[in-house]
Amino acid sequence: MDLEYQSGFGNQFASEALPGALPVGQNSPQKAPYGLYTELFSGTAFTMARSEARRTWLYRIQPSANHPAFIKLERQLAGGALGGVTPNRLRWNPLDIPSEPTDFVDGLVGMVANSGAEKPSGISIYTYRANRSMERVFFNADGELLIVPEQGRLRIATELGVLDVEPLEILVLPRGLKFRIELLDAQARGYVAENHGAPLRLPDLGPIGSNGLANPRDFLTPVAHYEDSKKPTTLVQKFLGELWACELDHSPLNVVAWHGNNVPYKYDLRRFNTIGTVSFDHPDPSIFTVLTSPTSVHGLANLDFVIFPPRWMVAENTFRPPWFHRNLMNEYMGLIQGAYDAKAEGFLPGGASLHSCMSAHGPDGETCTKAINVELAPHKIDNTMAFMFETSQVLRPTQFALECPQLQPSYDACWASLPATFNPNRR
Ligand SMILES: [Fe+2]
Repeated sequence: MDLEYQSGFGNQFASEALPGALPVGQNSPQKAPYGLYTELFSGTAFTMARSEARRTWLYRIQPSANHPAFIKLERQLAGGALGGVTPNRLRWNPLDIPSEPTDFVDGLVGMVANSGAEKPSGISIYTYRANRSMERVFFNADGELLIVPEQGRLRIATELGVLDVEPLEILVLPRGLKFRIELLDAQARGYVAENHGAPLRLPDLGPIGSNGLANPRDFLTPVAHYEDSKKPTTLVQKFLGELWACELDHSPLNVVAWHGNNVPYKYDLRRFNTIGTVSFDHPDPSIFTVLTSPTSVHGLANLDFVIFPPRWMVAENTFRPPWFHRNLMNEYMGLIQGAYDAKAEGFLPGGASLHSCMSAHGPDGETCTKAINVELAPHKIDNTMAFMFETSQVLRPTQFALECPQLQPSYDACWASLPATFNPNRR
């Protein structure tokens, strides 16, 4: 199946799976074409500034309102409640993919969070593992989902159309959008950031100018595609962290036409135009921001999605790995492939690390010693894709994340081998 996409970011897209299914000149005519029902899908408050407003008009076989009561599911999300607060640096090995049948929803495991969905800010971070396609349809009332596959290709059938994503691509699903995730490979694993705050957008470019980093035309949104099916379908929603379900006598992926900007989209991280120094030192990692969710404080992000892609290192007379640092922001890192240039070992694809507000970190001893002594020549960091979910509020690990065997007991030790190099007699 060759999928079609529309290119651009934040556009007022329009798509119809049947010719003439979109009303012309108005949003909600007395009778929509083909006997469809009109429904508004809002991602922001009605009165948001026009530049920030997200909404899509849907023309569908049955309105979403046609559903019985939701009943709380016995099987809730894995990961459980948040655990104790810790200022310590934490690192996890990758979680195993279960051997029992597990779809995307069953395979979601809460790792860290800084807010519940009852607040209009904050994020929650999950690992997902799956070995079979969803047969049910899911929507998340608690926030927008940024999905970062690490293993396995996914096909995502949504209300607005179908997208395929593979590792090194990312997917963003607006809050409330109904979708079904199918596996195109035997198993899948990756990361999810659930954004309870303002929807993700492209960062401003400032003095960089009008091009660079993630370019808008590389973001892909699906075209309309509908299921006119009477097959009984379970619809699951996550509401304030709990899973609820109801049984429908039809597929809820039944939108024949739509127009608007509250849409799912994907982006290939290999298309990121990486910008860095051509003289000395290196810029702050904000130069690697793909998408950002701002707070009401200018310049302070609720969520920055930042990547560390393949790139040339050419800086002269420079300590080239990320410097040692202590930051205001809280950093949850993951690795999609290869190795990360600040760590010689222990940070694996599918694994994760957490460096909270003001926790000191940086390259490990081995990387540091090498970087101080290496002869500096242009060098390409290749076959790598690390990323960071960075947030302004402290992240608390879940009970699961604090107790799971994948939590490394001796992460601190990677900085214990830093050699003593101070000599007051030799400048
Ligand atoms: Fe950091």
